[in-house]
Amino acid sequence: MDVSSIIMPLLRQIEPETAHQATILALKLGFGKANKEAENDSLSINVAGLPFKNPIGLAAGFDKNAEVIKPMLGLGFGFVETGTVTPLPQKGNPKPRVFRLPKDGAIINRLGFNNDGLDAYTKRLKARSPETGIVGANIGHNKNSTDPVDDYVICAQKVAAFCDYITINVSSPNTPGLRTLQNKTRLSYLIEAVLEAISDTDKPIFVKIAPDLLNEDRADIAEIATKSAIAGLIVSNTTIGRNDNLKSPAKVETGGLSGIPLFDPSTALLSEMYRRTQGKVALIGAGGIFSGRDAFDKICAGASLVQLYTGLIYQGPKIVRLIKDDLVNLLADGGFKSVSDAVGSQLK
Ligand code: FNR
Repeated sequence: MDVSSIIMPLLRQIEPETAHQATILALKLGFGKANKEAENDSLSINVAGLPFKNPIGLAAGFDKNAEVIKPMLGLGFGFVETGTVTPLPQKGNPKPRVFRLPKDGAIINRLGFNNDGLDAYTKRLKARSPETGIVGANIGHNKNSTDPVDDYVICAQKVAAFCDYITINVSSPNTPGLRTLQNKTRLSYLIEAVLEAISDTDKPIFVKIAPDLLNEDRADIAEIATKSAIAGLIVSNTTIGRNDNLKSPAKVETGGLSGIPLFDPSTALLSEMYRRTQGKVALIGAGGIFSGRDAFDKICAGASLVQLYTGLIYQGPKIVRLIKDDLVNLLADGGFKSVSDAVGSQLK
């Protein structure tokens, strides 16, 4: 049963986090409508050794606890990134901590990695049938951790057997100290520790970065990405920046801003990282994707895959089909036979 056309406007009237919990519950109860339309061949792409049916993914944070992988893949996403999970369960910051900026097509959140913890998360990942599609596990550290690197190692070791790729999240703005792991020495150390911890598997590792990095950090991260054995970068997480054009009253809230205002800065960073890494690592573009054109622009700027979250909140589940249909047309109009043909075309 597809209740989304009735439910979506109602959900937008209630407090955002309550609306999200209601959505997860409805999906768990089977109210998500599976999209049965055939996938267009031009959308398929191999990245990091994984065969993606299409390049449109669900970004981390929607399914923090790996509860709704199957229904979200059923909507037509080519992959779903679950998490961020931390070793121990944690409640996150005091509520309210998610704010809509409807005039800006944006969200500010300061959730702070509220999640059920690694044991519950892994149990759910383990229970899924692998043929449902490609699933990433996004890992982080607990707020009160005494050894953050060890938290990532513990998470990676536990989830590696039950996911298709792992994302090291060093870019959420709501866990004190987390983003300092993007510093050259600390990031190299963290990446090597995680790679070592899962060296008996062939699971690809992505590192998710912030859009607010200083120039020096960007250069360092590009160098680390090309020299280490990671598969690539996810560009980007939410921003702590606020541009002067924001119109919604909630713009004053502390936290990470996502959605339309994030499109330009995250796409600029994406093309910069494509240029700096010379196409040697895979890039996943995220930030403000609301249409097929947005996804196409990220691909032309250097993304092999893209992810979205805020667009789903504002446009509902139909956004996945709409983006894919538009992307097929945009690729054909641009003379590209496939997504991989278009990757980085803007910079070639
Ligand atoms: C997020 N995002 C996020 N990212 C992450 O790596 N771990 C997380 O737990 C979360 N949690 C989260 C909660 C909420 C409410 C939002 C809106 C976002 C960031 C997300 O994955 C994505 O990188 C950004 O939101 C940019 O994409 P969109 O939302 O502009 O499409």
